[in-house]
Amino acid sequence: MTNTSQLAPTQPIEEKSYDTIPYGSQSIAYTHPARMAAVAYLFGLTPPNVETARVLELGCAAGGNLIPLAHGYPQARFVGVDISGVQVAEGHTHVAELGLSNIELLKMNIGDIGADIGQFDYIICHGVYSWVPEPVRDAIMRVCHENLTAQGVAFVSYNALPFWHLLQPLRDLLIHHTAALEPQLRAQSARTLIQDLTQLPAGLGADILRNEARLLASQPDFYLIHEYLEDINHASYFKDFVTHAHTQRLAYLSDVNVGWTLPETFGSQGAELAYRHGAGDLQQTEQYADFIFGRRFRQTLLVKRDNGERIRRVLSVDCLDQLHFLCCSKISKQIASTISTPMRQAAQPEVWFRRADEAVVVTPESRLATRALEYLAESPTAHLSTFTVDELVQHSAQSSTWTSEEKSEVAEWLLDMLLQNHVEIYFAPIRSQMLSDKPNASSLARSDQAHGRRFTANALHGTYSFDEGDKLLLPFLDGTHDCAALEAVVHAAFKAGALSLSYKGQALNMNDDAASAVREYVQAHLQRLESARMLS
Ligand SMILES: C[S@@+](CC[C@H](N)C(=O)[O-])C[C@H]1O[C@@H](n2cnc3c(N)ncnc32)[C@H](O)[C@@H]1O
Repeated sequence: MTNTSQLAPTQPIEEKSYDTIPYGSQSIAYTHPARMAAVAYLFGLTPPNVETARVLELGCAAGGNLIPLAHGYPQARFVGVDISGVQVAEGHTHVAELGLSNIELLKMNIGDIGADIGQFDYIICHGVYSWVPEPVRDAIMRVCHENLTAQGVAFVSYNALPFWHLLQPLRDLLIHHTAALEPQLRAQSARTLIQDLTQLPAGLGADILRNEARLLASQPDFYLIHEYLEDINHASYFKDFVTHAHTQRLAYLSDVNVGWTLPETFGSQGAELAYRHGAGDLQQTEQYADFIFGRRFRQTLLVKRDNGERIRRVLSVDCLDQLHFLCCSKISKQIASTISTPMRQAAQPEVWFRRADEAVVVTPESRLATRALEYLAESPTAHLSTFTVDELVQHSAQSSTWTSEEKSEVAEWLLDMLLQNHVEIYFAPIRSQMLSDKPNASSLARSDQAHGRRFTANALHGTYSFDEGDKLLLPFLDGTHDCAALEAVVHAAFKAGALSLSYKGQALNMNDDAASAVREYVQAHLQRLESARMLS
């Protein structure tokens, strides 16, 4: 008799692992193609139009990152690949809930991807490279070259050395502690140990374990299991990662967060060291910065080598014209003091953030830069919807006409703001709205909430976790209900005993007059949605 179990093909270890404990698949703001494209444009390349792009994600889990993008860009096309059938099936359910026809999720090994899957303008591979065997890492680089269009951009994230080494004692301990257990029991056992470790008294090894354990204690089980307990966790030096990319004819573009490639971001003394020992070489300087500042994770953008030859690392204000800017958070005028020392002045001329026009010096005394800052600080929407340089100049010059010198003055300041991580850049407009009389949440958020999902994506493609208030209010945030109608919903839930309310620190009983508490609850919830960029 044939022994079928002996003949059955072995299930790859990664497939089994993620089938058993699926990853918490969600949107990752940095992987937004409009951000990848913006960096390419900033460095002088010609990235493909995001609105009509073809986007591939490698290791897409249940599509939690790709599906919101497919919802937001109906003219673009999306393909996700993952080895775990359980996760891909979950992704199919999500796609069907939203009725999307511009996305395909395929159960497939990255190593099996060939030319037939097509060419893509943007390839995303987040949280995969460090957790797969060498042949799959090679395949990731191969696909990022073979399946990328000439002007395309690939995103690959990975655990960075040497500072990932600091996590190794904790990883080794957790693996040792849980080795004999079934996968489902390992997270619980590891969690109990982690709690103990958070209480360790001071001591050389204990300090490392305790600090890491404290960071890990609040992470969900899927993260614990896949980040710390997987058989493979291959962290890389930046220089080795870039060398690996070169073998597949890919060139290093930048970190997706441009400011993070500037050593000054992490402190001026260390930056001086990184520049000195980097000796004018971009990759050496970034590697020294990793040694000095302790980066553990990198989000690297790659382009094809031929395209890479066109990268222009001397930033000038002309690089900003087609970009859309967003304040990372509501800014205050205090930022003025931090922009008084333009970081790019500290950069050595041979390195990459040199100004094209050294003569233009942005100082806080600059009349227009000060006005631009005041405008952004006063604007209620500068952190909700993108603005262009021209729009900012118009507001700063307080006129619909301005001189090219005036524009340069504002643009120089904005470039400093970008390099100091006060603003983000996109290659397409991004819009979320302020609270209005009849607030509207995106149809994605309403659908995700209605289908019992735990999180959704906001306008920036960041993860938004639903809470109790969303359950009540989101179904009514469709632009047809005013605050009085929303208050009636909350009031009814309170009277039905489905919601507890308090007012001025006192819990209310069902018979209390709850009108003020209800109004406060609704306003607080709508404010939360507005600042989380959830209103459309
Ligand atoms: C740590 S998870 C990251 C998921 C998602 N990219 C994210 O960042 O949230 C790694 C994913 O890669 C998938 N994966 C691992 N090896 C793979 C392979 N050889 N081919 C395709 N997918 C793979 C796993 O199934 C899992 O969904």
